[in-house]
Amino acid sequence: MKAPVRVSVTGAAGQIGYSLLFRIAAGEMLGPDQPVVLQLLEIPEAQEPLQGVVMELEDCAFPLLAGVTTSDRAEEAFADADYVLLVGAKPRGPGMERKDLLEANAAIFSAQGQALNQAARPSVKVLAVGNPANTNALIAQHNAPDLDPRHFTAMTRLDHNRALAQLANRVGCHTREIRGLTVWGNHSATQYPDISHCEIQGRPAPELLETEWVRETFIPTVQQRGAAIIKARGASSAASAASAAIDHMRDWALGTPEGAWTSMAVPSDGSYGIDAGLIYSFPVRCSGGDYRLVEGLAIDDFSRERMEATAAELREERDAIRHLLP
Ligand code: NAD
Ligand code: LMR
Repeated sequence: MKAPVRVSVTGAAGQIGYSLLFRIAAGEMLGPDQPVVLQLLEIPEAQEPLQGVVMELEDCAFPLLAGVTTSDRAEEAFADADYVLLVGAKPRGPGMERKDLLEANAAIFSAQGQALNQAARPSVKVLAVGNPANTNALIAQHNAPDLDPRHFTAMTRLDHNRALAQLANRVGCHTREIRGLTVWGNHSATQYPDISHCEIQGRPAPELLETEWVRETFIPTVQQRGAAIIKARGASSAASAASAAIDHMRDWALGTPEGAWTSMAVPSDGSYGIDAGLIYSFPVRCSGGDYRLVEGLAIDDFSRERMEATAAELREERDAIRHLLP
């Protein structure tokens, strides 16, 4: 058995937390031979429900669960952390503008970035799930100057998985039979799910799918899926979001399947003309605990316009909270 690694989760008593923690403890994120210590962060008001979650974790008697700690102090929850999932965030309240949400969460993610800088292991891998996820990751990264900036990522894997499901339903195949899908940009309604390089059952997707369906149905459905779930469920996606967080971290830690790529929002290095530094979703391959961008994909005019629109939104978000970046 390997030595345990430390996994910190914020917002651990929330909806996503409730779907996420049990799967991490069962080994679905880091593998069936990797013990984990869970370090759970919640606000003071949520400590009691958090204790209920801890009781349930104990009651599962997971063979891989080497310990659980709880705290309302980020430095304590991030101590020596190897992996950190930043899920806790302030939800949008009545009458709250997007800018207010950005500012409220900017305060949380700047404090948590500083705490990561102080307490986490230098090699820590960070995933921001709490919205606005890309900009929250950017804020945490800027507040953690001693950590590897490439290790601050945000979650667009849920969008990627949603796009796979839409394509599989349309064609009548399994999601496993689809390769080469990319979600570009922001985890928001401007994201661009791109099938240009996609193969379905070994055939180029643009040959199988009508352009009108791709542009008028597929892209808006994926972009609006989060809102559709909120409307239907009365609450935002939780189990699928937790599943996507597991997929993101598992692939980063253990690698993407041979020949495949996935979508992760990572700091841009200027590839594909995207402003260096923005946390932007790209096609990535992972191996050896690292990710690298898939380079050299041909980008047509339609894609270029969509990629630029979502980059423009990320620039706007960054500019709205720029005064909070150190
Ligand atoms: P939730 O409201 O059920 O849970 C959030 C938890 O975070 C709460 O328990 C709250 O007490 C806690 N929290 C708030 N501020 C905190 C802080 N400063 N430190 C620690 N914990 C804090 O929400 P949820 O359904 O679990 O969703 C969490 C976030 O994930 C939301 O921002 C949601 O919009 C986002 N989300 C992102 C994606 C994605 O694909 N990136 C998908 C779904 C949801
Ligand atoms: C989702 O994509 O399901 C969520 O990000 C939606 C939301 O606003 O919480």
